[in-house]
Amino acid sequence: MLTFLAFLLRIPNYYNGKITIEVMKLSYQEIFEHAKNWTKEAGENLRESLKQTIEVEFKTSASDLVTKKDREIEQFFALKINEFYPQHMILGEEGTVSNQDYVFTESEVWVIDPIDGTTNFVNQKMNFAISVAFYDKGQPVIGIIYDPIKDELFTALKGHGASLNGVTIEQLRATTLQESLISVNSLWTIPNEKIDEKKLYPIVEHARGIRYIGSAALEIAWISVGRLDAYIDFRLSPWDIGAGIVILKELGGEATTLEGLEIDMTSTSTTLFTRPGLGEVIRNYLS
Ligand code: IPD
Ligand code: CA
Ligand code: CA
Repeated sequence: MLTFLAFLLRIPNYYNGKITIEVMKLSYQEIFEHAKNWTKEAGENLRESLKQTIEVEFKTSASDLVTKKDREIEQFFALKINEFYPQHMILGEEGTVSNQDYVFTESEVWVIDPIDGTTNFVNQKMNFAISVAFYDKGQPVIGIIYDPIKDELFTALKGHGASLNGVTIEQLRATTLQESLISVNSLWTIPNEKIDEKKLYPIVEHARGIRYIGSAALEIAWISVGRLDAYIDFRLSPWDIGAGIVILKELGGEATTLEGLEIDMTSTSTTLFTRPGLGEVIRNYLS
């Protein structure tokens, strides 16, 4: 039944004696329910896996890790999506889904980070998340971020607000830099190829405090519930932020590049996630 519903429904429509075909799109609500259920199931798998030894491989260096679980969880989503929505595309960090030829802005695409914060998964066994988003022709529609250790499921469906474990999250209010906790990776506060690190000094100096979790998805999820007020990064990929963008935008938050432009979901980019109004204040320091 669900598989059947996953396809476009074609309903004959009698009008003025003529038969037309009305193409009715499956509601996003069903995709949303699936996304939440699959993410919780994958999270349970990750939580259980921590009882055993984690098999770690270096991707490019000892600080760029991947585990068997990253690939397994991505494959889990790919199997589910292919079963229920064979026409949908998948953009996953581990690239376990191949042979897809599509244009992001013309397709229905799942954007998946099976483990965001793999270093935390390996070293801390906490502070990591599964990030799952659904974009329809380039438009952010569904965002799910799940912290399986805290059992915190952040969700958003475009036009329906955002929730934490099913409880509606209030719209975000503006705040000042002086009252803000800003998340930034300390890598950007030493000489680097992306920004003159000195531009970050006044932010470090004037903010109430600097924090960094080590999972881009969680930094954004935490802004949505007021545990952080902004997150600055200079090199994030679509899967790190796909879900966070949906959640934050549903709450009136800002998700832009450091230039204040819309984030391109087909490449890595600079990123600034904030409560409303705070983006401009931070951009003024960084420009
Ligand atoms: C990383 C984390 C980290 C961010 C890196 C990401 P990964 O994702 O989100 O916090 O600073 O840029 O690549 O590799 O753990 O999925
Ligand atoms: Ca990531
Ligand atoms: Ca990852």
